[in-house]
Amino acid sequence: MNIILCKDYEAMSAIAADIIAKQVKSNKTSVLGLPTGSTPIGTYTKLAEMCNAGEIDFSSVKTFNLDEYYPIKRDNDQSYYYFMYKNFFSKINIKPENVHVPNGEVEDAEKECKEYEEAIAAAGGIDLQMLGIGQNGHIGFNEPDSELYPFTHKTSLTENTILANARFFESASDVPTNALTMGMASILSAKKIIILINGANKKEATKALLKGTVTTSCPATLLNLHPDVTLICTEDAYCE
Ligand code: PGA
Repeated sequence: MNIILCKDYEAMSAIAADIIAKQVKSNKTSVLGLPTGSTPIGTYTKLAEMCNAGEIDFSSVKTFNLDEYYPIKRDNDQSYYYFMYKNFFSKINIKPENVHVPNGEVEDAEKECKEYEEAIAAAGGIDLQMLGIGQNGHIGFNEPDSELYPFTHKTSLTENTILANARFFESASDVPTNALTMGMASILSAKKIIILINGANKKEATKALLKGTVTTSCPATLLNLHPDVTLICTEDAYCE
């Protein structure tokens, strides 16, 4: 795993944005895998600035988001669809038809997940996947468990994640209890992966990831199976 240590959140965001910009400049039809959460917001802001300065062009880029609550309406301000438009898509020149977020509004979640995998394959697979990480080592909504389902699927949220995400809702009881998420095999199919880790509360997760072993009790460790992963980590989140 390549490791880039950054002095703070600002530096981490700048490095991640530069890697994504380089990808998009080298292939203007790039397929990007994208996360939500507080970690990537700075990266999205920097990419939007570059786009508005005419330095990068998203008009032929396709994106696939990692996950979405289920069920949830897309116009709910806590949906990941809403988050992505608010923080990124509304600020760049991406075409709406090139944006993919698992649809938390559908009746048939199984069909949605199957079609999501098919859409990733039809786009030619993900060129560059950006990730965040949960304090418990989750990736997307792949939560620590004795078994993991490899492809896009519906899953229930752990108590830990519901509590961590409650800060965005009026109360923990308003957090949806299910989600649609790309599986670890969907994620590991990306050609390149960057994982952003910020803040001292992620130290344990960083440590587990850097141990180099693989366990479903810390889904992030499965990234050790991939040949091209770059960890972009703030100093306070770093722990060997
Ligand atoms: P955060 O969430 O970026 O808000 O810390 C990351 C995650 O839970 O995957």
